[in-house]
Amino acid sequence: MQSDRLLLRGRLLTFKAEPQTADDTAAFDYIEDGALLIENGLILRRGTYTDVVTDAGSADIIDHRPHLLTAGFIDTHVHFPQVQIVASWGAQLLDWLNTYTFPEETRFAEEDHAAAMACRFFDLLTNHGTTTAVAYCSVHKESAEAYFEEAEQRNMRMIGGKVLMDRNAPDGLRDTPQSGYDDTRALIEKWHGRGRAHYAITPRFAITSTPAQMEMAGALVTEHPDCFVQTHLSENRNEIAYTLELYPEARDYLDVYQGYGLLSDKMLLGHSIHLEQREIDALAETGARPVFCPTSNLFLGSGLFDDAGLKSRGIVNAIATDIGAGTSYSMLQTLNEGYKILQLQDQKLHPFRAFHWITRGNAVALGLQDRIGTLDEGTEADIVVLNARATEAMALRMERAETLAEELFVLQMLGDDRSIDEVYVAGKAQKGKAPVMAGRPASRRVSAGRERELVLS
Ligand code: GUN
Ligand code: ZN
Repeated sequence: MQSDRLLLRGRLLTFKAEPQTADDTAAFDYIEDGALLIENGLILRRGTYTDVVTDAGSADIIDHRPHLLTAGFIDTHVHFPQVQIVASWGAQLLDWLNTYTFPEETRFAEEDHAAAMACRFFDLLTNHGTTTAVAYCSVHKESAEAYFEEAEQRNMRMIGGKVLMDRNAPDGLRDTPQSGYDDTRALIEKWHGRGRAHYAITPRFAITSTPAQMEMAGALVTEHPDCFVQTHLSENRNEIAYTLELYPEARDYLDVYQGYGLLSDKMLLGHSIHLEQREIDALAETGARPVFCPTSNLFLGSGLFDDAGLKSRGIVNAIATDIGAGTSYSMLQTLNEGYKILQLQDQKLHPFRAFHWITRGNAVALGLQDRIGTLDEGTEADIVVLNARATEAMALRMERAETLAEELFVLQMLGDDRSIDEVYVAGKAQKGKAPVMAGRPASRRVSAGRERELVLS
C-alpha cells in the first residue's frame, strides 16, 4: 500500500527570481542531494535529503538520483485541435491557416473526436514535461468541454478557451457574436475555478472576428476580469496589412484589441513580432504579455521576436510551443530554437534564464507563481525529472560538463521528451517509471557511474 506522502530524492533546482547574469546564483536554489516531501498534491518540505527524510515518516521514497528535479514546464500558447497537422508543408501564416488549419479544426465539432484528441494531446504534453498549458480549443464548445474534462481527470492546472471566430473561416468553423458570447459564458460558469481549471477568453485574432464579435469579447472581459484573455498579434506582415484593412480606424494592430478593452496583465499575445513603437508603449502601460513562439516563428517564416527590446521596457515575455505551427511539444526544444533566434539578433539566452523562463518565468507571466513554476513549500507538486544523459550524444557531451550551467545548456539544446525521466502532476507520477519503495529509500536506479558534483556556474 502506498501512503499519500511521497518523498522524492534527487538534485533540486528551483528559481526565486529571473537570473540577470550568468553568475547570478542568488536567483536560484540548487541542492545536490535534495528531497521534496509531497502530501495531498502539494510540496510540504524541500531541503537536503538528510533533513527532509527525518520528517518523512512512512512516506514512499523515490530515488531519482543522479537526475535533476525542477518545476514542471509551462507552455503558454498551444493549439489543441492542431495535433494532427503539425509539420504541414510549405505555407506561411494565412495560407497555412486556410490550407491546413481551418479544415482540420472543423473536425472538432464532433465530441468523440475532440475527446480522443484531448487524451492524446495531454499524453504528449506530460511526456514532454509540460504540466500546465494555455490552449486554444476550436470554435466548437465541444472541444473546450473535451479539453477541460481531460484536464480534470488528470488533475492538471490548465488554462484554455474556445476560439471566437465569426468571419474569414469556412462553414462549420464560425460562431456568431451572440453564440460565441453565450458559449463562452457557459464554459466560464462551468469550468473557470473548478479544480485546477482557468478559462481564457479567446478571440482567435482580429481577422476572424467582426467588430461586433470584438465588442462581445470586450463585454466578456469586463464581466469576467479574473479570466485570462488570449489572441494573436503581429505574427506576419500580410496578416498585419489585412488586419489594418479590416479595421481602418485602428492606429495599429494592437489598437484593435485595445479599442475593445481587452488589454491587461491577464492578456497573452501570441507572437508579437513586428511591433510599432506605440504598440510597445501600450504593452508596457497595460502589462499585457507577448508570447515568444520560436519553433513556430521559424517554421512559418514569421520573423524574429525582440526579447531584449521588449524586456528593456519592463514587459514580461512568456515563451511557448505554438503547436501546430510550432514543431515540437518540448519546451526544451523551444528553448533550443529560441536561443538561435536570439543569437541572430545578438541577444543571449543563458541556460539559467532559459530554465527560469519555462518554469517560474511563465508562471509569473500568468500570475500563478504562488501555485506553480517553483519547488517552493506550499506550491503544487508539478515536477519534472530531467536526465541530461538521455541520448548517446548527450551522454558523450556530459562527460566534459563541469558546471550546472553546462548541464542545463546540454538539456536546453539537445534535450526533448527522451530527457524527461518522470513527470509528477499534483504529486502523482505520470510515466510510472520510477521504483517506489514503501517507507525506505529505493536503491539507485541509474548506475551509469557516479557523476561528479557540478559547480554552480
Ligand atoms: N493566427 C491565428 N490563428 C493562428 C493559429 O492557429 N496559429 C498561428 N501560429 N497563428 C494564428
Ligand atoms: Zn497560435
